[in-house]
Order: sequence, then structure tokens, then C-alpha cells
Amino acid sequence: MSLPDPTDHEPIQGPRLRLRPITPDDLPDLMRWLRDPDVMDFYGLPPADLAEARQVYLEPSGLPTWRFIVEDRGRPIGEMQYYYSYTDAAWSAGIDIFIGEPDARDRGLGTEAIRTVLQYLFETKGVSRVVIDPEPTNRRAIRAYEKAGFRLDGVIRRHMKIDDRWADAAFMTILDEEWPAAKARWHSSERSR
Ligand SMILES: CC(C)(COP(=O)(O)OP(=O)(O)OC[C@H]1O[C@@H](n2cnc3c(N)ncnc32)[C@H](O)[C@@H]1OP(=O)(O)O)[C@@H](O)C(=O)NCCC(=O)NCCS
Repeated sequence: MSLPDPTDHEPIQGPRLRLRPITPDDLPDLMRWLRDPDVMDFYGLPPADLAEARQVYLEPSGLPTWRFIVEDRGRPIGEMQYYYSYTDAAWSAGIDIFIGEPDARDRGLGTEAIRTVLQYLFETKGVSRVVIDPEPTNRRAIRAYEKAGFRLDGVIRRHMKIDDRWADAAFMTILDEEWPAAKARWHSSERSR
């Protein structure tokens, strides 16, 4: 099976944020964000140069993956991606996110971006399960994912290698039947803002 172009996707519009495909013009922002210490803590060393960033963000990787810039009222603030966990079936999608602009963190925008992509994956793509796998030490990420509706399934030890360091993963999922309640919490938090 040939892998899709990670930038060949329609934009995903949420009530507040827009997720739109990455373009080559975004590479300098991505490089800057990936050099931020809060991002490097969990992503490791950034791409060495624009050519490496282009390969990572604009070219297909091991699984069908689509990559987006998160925009808050037109301002690029971070990167979000979704992928199918298996090359031949779309029942399980995985997501990953970082908010690259430091002043955009801890303001609810990461949770908002995750809710926006969950709505798209469950309601438009019809997936059965969405997975996210932060490091267990990443308390902020785990809190944001719980707010969006994920729950912890368990910790997978030595799940990934970040540079020379083995990292555990807090394997978190949300199922399609859990989405309506998570969406209702999203709407009620919107109303109380
Ligand atoms: C993780 C990330 C995506 C979350 O997005 P965000 O917009 O900053 O998060 P939100 O504001 O939506 O929610 C963060 C929650 O964590 C809480 N929090 C912040 N720091 C925390 C900490 N050290 N321990 C526990 N909770 C923490 C916040 O108070 C908030 O919860 P609240 O709304 O109940 O008060 C973003 O911070 C980020 O990109 N960080 C750097 C890279 C990274 O960790 N990426 C994720 C890899 S899996």
C-alpha cells in the first residue's frame, strides 16, 4: 500500500481553532517550536536543518499520517497530526500534538485542538478508537487529554526511544461511544467561558 501525502487533507475547522495542512512556508516556525525546551523535553533533539524538517513534516512516514498547523484566529501556534494505527484499516487512529508558541500553552488551546480533531475523527471519519501516548511524566499533557475525554489504559514500558533515552508511554484511548459525553462536556465548558 502506498502511503498518502501527509499534507493532502482538507482543513478541519473547530469552533475556535482551525487545523490546516502544513506547507513549506511553515518549516521555519516548526524549527523554532521544536527548539523550545518544553517541546524538546518530550520530542528530543529538533531537526538539524530545513531539509530534515521537510522530510519529517512534509513527506510520508511509516503509517498513513496527516499533519496540520493549529491556528488560533489566524495565528499559527503549534502542530497536530493524526495517523491510522494500521496501514490497512482505519478503525484506530492515533494523534499527537505540540503547542509551539510558549504564550499559547496552559490556556486551554491544546485541549481545544484535541477536541476539534476528535470530533472530526469520530463524526466524519467514523473511527472506533483514538489513541494518544504521552510520557507518564508529562502531567500537563495527560491532564489536557483527560479533559478532552481520554482515559489511561495503562503504561507501556520502553515504548519509544527519544534520542538515546528509552521512554515509557501512558497509553490513553477514547472510544466512539464515549465521544458524545466528552463532546457534551466540551459544549458545557464553552458555555461557561
Ligand atoms: C501538552 C500540551 C499539548 C497541552 O496543551 P495546553 O494548551 O498547554 O494545555 P491546556 O491548557 O489545554 O490544559 C493543560 C492542563 O494541564 C494543567 N497543567 C499544567 N501544568 C501541569 C503540571 N505540571 N501538572 C499537572 N497539570 C498541569 C493545566 O492547569 C491545565 O489543566 P486545567 O485546565 O484543569 O487547569 C502543550 O502544553 C504542549 O505542547 N506542551 C509541550 C510539548 C508536549 O508536551 N507535547 C505533548 C506530547 S504527548
